[in-house]
Amino acid sequence: MDKVFLVANLKSYKTQKEASDWLEVFRNIDVNLLEQKLVIVCPPFTLLEFFKSNFALNNLNVKIGAQNISPFEEGPYTGEVNAKQIKEFADYVLIGHSERRSNFSETEVILKEKINRAIEVGLEPILLVQNENTPIATGIKVIAYEPTFAIGSGNPDTPENAEKIATSIKQKGDYRVLYGGSLTSANIKGFTSQSNIDGALIGGASLEAEEFIKIIENA
Ligand code: PGA
Repeated sequence: MDKVFLVANLKSYKTQKEASDWLEVFRNIDVNLLEQKLVIVCPPFTLLEFFKSNFALNNLNVKIGAQNISPFEEGPYTGEVNAKQIKEFADYVLIGHSERRSNFSETEVILKEKINRAIEVGLEPILLVQNENTPIATGIKVIAYEPTFAIGSGNPDTPENAEKIATSIKQKGDYRVLYGGSLTSANIKGFTSQSNIDGALIGGASLEAEEFIKIIENA
């Protein structure tokens, strides 16, 4: 069986000092857990290198993901970070988070460009969908189902409904499907034990390293 995906989305949180404190705790994790499960941490751009080098220094098998990517290749696009630049630090990239769709007006057209840029350089896009009807572009292999009502609300979807959505997404293609939205160490197993849920995307609860370790243990 494939490994369970556990993806930490640190969103727009953490300074370098705060990241250093997080890593100080996280490096006490039982390294065997990191062989059994596929752990991916998605820090803000400013901390990609910091997390990558710290995981390497401590021999921790943790992959890096970015939270966003430019829809453009390199060029005169002030403020953008392009796929080639991200690929120097990361293996994965989140695309289509509902916070980006709503706060930054990311349309399906823009998201398709982002997905293409990621795939061109060998970054694995993790497409976030809000329900089973969100379009899934060609080339996507990993999808995270995150209903907007569940994000940061303390009100997760039920494992049964998430399983239903994961099942219907899998009827459309050969996808790995994750669930995200108000996950904690107490509720994670209910989701990862569903047969069509291949892992989880964790926001708020990943900000404390101790809780994230417990999530990895319990998943
Ligand atoms: P949450 O966020 O775990 O804080 O609900 C999940 C996400 O937005 O990726």
